[in-house]
Amino acid sequence: MSSFDDKAATWDDEAKIERARAVADAIAGAVPLEPSMRLFEYGAGTGLVAEQLASRVGPITLADPSAGMREVASEKVAAGSLPATTRVWGTDLATEGVPEDRFELIVTVMTLHHIADLPPVLAAFAEMLTDEGHLCIVDLEAEDGSFHADTDHDSGVGHAHDGFEPDQLAARLADAGFTTGVERSIHHVTKDGRAYPLFLAVSVKQP
Ligand SMILES: C[S@@+](CC[C@H](N)C(=O)[O-])C[C@H]1O[C@@H](n2cnc3c(N)ncnc32)[C@H](O)[C@@H]1O
Repeated sequence: MSSFDDKAATWDDEAKIERARAVADAIAGAVPLEPSMRLFEYGAGTGLVAEQLASRVGPITLADPSAGMREVASEKVAAGSLPATTRVWGTDLATEGVPEDRFELIVTVMTLHHIADLPPVLAAFAEMLTDEGHLCIVDLEAEDGSFHADTDHDSGVGHAHDGFEPDQLAARLADAGFTTGVERSIHHVTKDGRAYPLFLAVSVKQP
């Protein structure tokens, strides 16, 4: 069982719902959303961001390796908080093959800093995205390691990166075949009295 399994039942709180709302609004401000767009959200957790985007996009596929997170997301589908057509996958792109499905919009929020081996994940995104599609990454801007310092270590939530310097992530995305624009400070996560800024990177495939 991953530590995210333990956190899943109490994951949704006011601050995370507010974060998801801010993230969805930032994405909607950066990408022309259409009701026909197939959305793939990677590391979707309980589906908070997808809930905020659902009325502005088409069919939704959520992926998360945590069974506990998937269980909460599936309960939301059953309860109608997420569309009935929403699919919930256990796909881990860092270790598994690339799904055959294709998407106009791929979103990943606060997830990449947990993944040590990013190149296979970014390459999978490039394969799964349609030619005109958009990849939206939201994550912590580079921080000093304090974000996951105490309680998270005790509870076993591992992290691989102390946030990202957005321009360096853009360079990694270029290696995977993307052109990327970055918007900084779209939202701040407050933890132990400190505010940690989040960036939004919007990538399209290089022609
Ligand atoms: C900080 S949570 C963010 C959840 C959700 N995106 C949100 O904003 O509420 C990180 C999520 O990444 C997932 N995760 C961890 N390792 C992953 C991996 N290799 N691939 C995909 N998701 C992963 C965890 O299970 C967890 O649900």
